[in-house]
Amino acid sequence: MQIKPLSFKVEEVKGPLGIFVFEDDKKNLEFLGPYKRDVEKILEMENFKGKEESLVKVPLLLNQEVRTFYIVGLGESQRTTEESYRYAVALLVKRATKDKVKELYLYAGELNHRLSKALAEGALLGSYRFDKYKTKKEEEKAQIESLYIHSAEEEGIKLGEIFAQAQNFARDLVNEPGNVINPITLAEIAQRLSQEYGLECRVYDEKEIQAMGMQALWSVGKGSSTPPRFVHIIYKPKTEAKDRIAIVGKGLTFDSGGLNIKTGDYMRTMKMDKSGACAVLGIMKAIAQIKPCVEVHGIFGAAENMPSGSAYRPDDIIKAMNGKTIEIDNTDAEGRVTLADALSYASNLGVSKIIDMATLTGACMVALGEYTAGLFTNDDQFEEEILALSKLTGERMWKLPMDDKRLREKIKKGEADLLNSGGRYGGAITAAMFLEEFVGEGIKWVHLDIAGPAHMREEFGYYTKGGTGFGVRSCLEYILKVCKEG
Ligand code: BES
Ligand code: MN
Ligand code: ZN
Repeated sequence: MQIKPLSFKVEEVKGPLGIFVFEDDKKNLEFLGPYKRDVEKILEMENFKGKEESLVKVPLLLNQEVRTFYIVGLGESQRTTEESYRYAVALLVKRATKDKVKELYLYAGELNHRLSKALAEGALLGSYRFDKYKTKKEEEKAQIESLYIHSAEEEGIKLGEIFAQAQNFARDLVNEPGNVINPITLAEIAQRLSQEYGLECRVYDEKEIQAMGMQALWSVGKGSSTPPRFVHIIYKPKTEAKDRIAIVGKGLTFDSGGLNIKTGDYMRTMKMDKSGACAVLGIMKAIAQIKPCVEVHGIFGAAENMPSGSAYRPDDIIKAMNGKTIEIDNTDAEGRVTLADALSYASNLGVSKIIDMATLTGACMVALGEYTAGLFTNDDQFEEEILALSKLTGERMWKLPMDDKRLREKIKKGEADLLNSGGRYGGAITAAMFLEEFVGEGIKWVHLDIAGPAHMREEFGYYTKGGTGFGVRSCLEYILKVCKEG
């Protein structure tokens, strides 16, 4: 879909026209000019109030021609956010796609840079589908070709397109099953992406992984017939970098649980356990296009957690890259083990900040529900910045505590420095505490447990069932903020 700002009058519009209105302010309907009265009558009949996530289709017969209007609610004007615009345009696009519309027009009032960006994001995220494996005919997969937005700002639209395309790229990768994306193919995708966009990319194979001292990543991956890979993508600005940031992702291309094997219901959807790594790839793709004044390192260990004769076991004691030893309590707590090496590696790059994203614990979903990521940090200011940006992006995050000394003791029991599971209670927190052991001195760190929002079981807003690309836009906003404000 191409999105363009365009100035038009209601009489000039060729295709269907969407109009956004607030619950308490419907002045945008003025744009309808001569059609306003008729549309208002229909809205009244349909009992349309302008509530968020409401849409009424109004077909009118005018001089023997049918004109279609879609009136979309934004909710109360005082409570409206960028996310309301993303939701509204996604609803509009989903409906118009169903109606086989090719050219869609939108009037959403006066639009600044941020709202123009939000509309482009919502439209592209809302039109996302993962149907490449459906063998139905191409015409059944028809998409809207053009969206013309009145009073939109071109630069905002362009940036929104980059953000949404990066997120949709991540969604595509998440949705690919384990027989298509494995550690080797995921590393190849990283290499291809880097080549295409002029990024530096280093891929380490299983021998190099062991030679670097990454016994943790190696142990998790060695039970699979597809060996692990370690991926490091680098973006460097042309001029001197204002800051150096690492984005680290959990990259389990499939998580069967290993010898502590999951039961069927819990194993289903575990192709999404690579969501953090896929978000990293989406972010690097966007960064290569935006070219901010910050150095960005995209990092992930890719592995498949499988049970086999060569799999790591409960009771095993292994050494991570930073020298700390880990006793395996449960092979299904594998994400933190792979991240131990990824965070150690990232800490050696001279970065001032690390954000990691991981589908780490079911416990985080129990605590916060499946729509909110858990946020953990060692720096309050970093936390506040990320939380403020998450309000803009609509990617819900909530802080969980890291100061519980008694809880921290649970991962220090056993025969090694650390135990890879702290038991049932506070499971998301003990997992985060485990990760913190591998973050270098003086580095500001935020960990996002995206086990819930990385993947949706139902369609809503701009999401479809499946991978969401959660975290891509918030991280991008953060990197751009550092570039702008230092
Ligand atoms: N990948 C899972 C976490 C997960 C669960 C993500 C459900 C998304 C949906 C992770 O590797 C895992 O298995 N965690 C265990 C940890 C436990 C064994 C300490 C869990 O949450 O049960
Ligand atoms: Mn697991
Ligand atoms: Zn996992």
